[in-house]
Amino acid sequence: MVRLQLSQQQLSPAEFRAALMRVPFTARDTWLDLVFELDGIPDDGPELPRGCVPYLPCPVDVLCRLVEHARIEPSDVVVDVGAGPGRAAAVLHLMTGAAVVALEIQPALVDATRALAARLHVDRLAVIEGDAAELTGRMHLGSVFFLYCPFSGERLERVLTDLEAIARTREIRVCCVDLPLPPVPWLELASPAANDLAVYRSVTPRASPGTAQSLR
Ligand SMILES: C[S@@+](CC[C@H](N)C(=O)[O-])C[C@H]1O[C@@H](n2cnc3c(N)ncnc32)[C@H](O)[C@@H]1O
Repeated sequence: MVRLQLSQQQLSPAEFRAALMRVPFTARDTWLDLVFELDGIPDDGPELPRGCVPYLPCPVDVLCRLVEHARIEPSDVVVDVGAGPGRAAAVLHLMTGAAVVALEIQPALVDATRALAARLHVDRLAVIEGDAAELTGRMHLGSVFFLYCPFSGERLERVLTDLEAIARTREIRVCCVDLPLPPVPWLELASPAANDLAVYRSVTPRASPGTAQSLR
C-alpha cells in the first residue's frame, strides 16, 4: 500500500511517518527495506579508499531521533556525507520533505541511489559521485549535514573546515552517528547525550586573535 502511494506521489511526510510508526519498533528496518525494494547490503567496490568506512545502513530508529533533534523542515537541504545506496537519504526526505543531496564515492552505490530515487518517484534527492572531502564546493547547498561515520582523520578535518566556513554565513546542524568529533568551538550539542547519535548546531564562530590583528 505504502509502495503504491509512494509511486503515485500520494504520501505526505506526515503520512509516511505515521505509516512507519505503525510498524512495531523492531520491524521498522525490515519494513523499510521491503518498501524500498532493497535486498541485503550491497558489496563494497575497489573504489573505496583505504581508511574510508564501507557501507552499513543507519538504523531507522537513529534516523527518527536525528529528524527530531535536528528539527529538519521541508525548507532544509540535508547533505548525506557518504550516502551508500541512498536508503537514509530517501528516509530523511520522505519523513521531512527536505531536499537531500547524497555524496558517495562508490559508483555502484551512486547508481543504486539513482535507481532508488526513481523507484520511489522522489525528485528532491540529488546524487553526487566523488570523495566527499574533495566535494567541498557542493557542501554549500546544505543546512543539515549527516555523517554516519564515512571516515575520520584528515578527510573529516577537511569537511569540518568547510562546514565552519558555511557556519560563518548561517546556522547549520551537523548530525553524527558513531563519529566522535574533535572539539570545535563553533558547534554546540543540540541533542541529549547518546552513545550513537550527536546532533550539533553551529554557533557564530569568532575570528581568532590572529585574524583580528591581520584585519587591523
Ligand atoms: C557507514 S556507511 C553510511 C551510509 C548512509 N549514510 C547511511 O546512513 O545509511 C558510509 C558510507 O560512506 C561512503 N564513503 C566512505 N568514504 C567516502 C568518501 N571519502 N566520500 C564519499 N563517500 C564515502 C561509503 O562508501 C559508505 O557508503
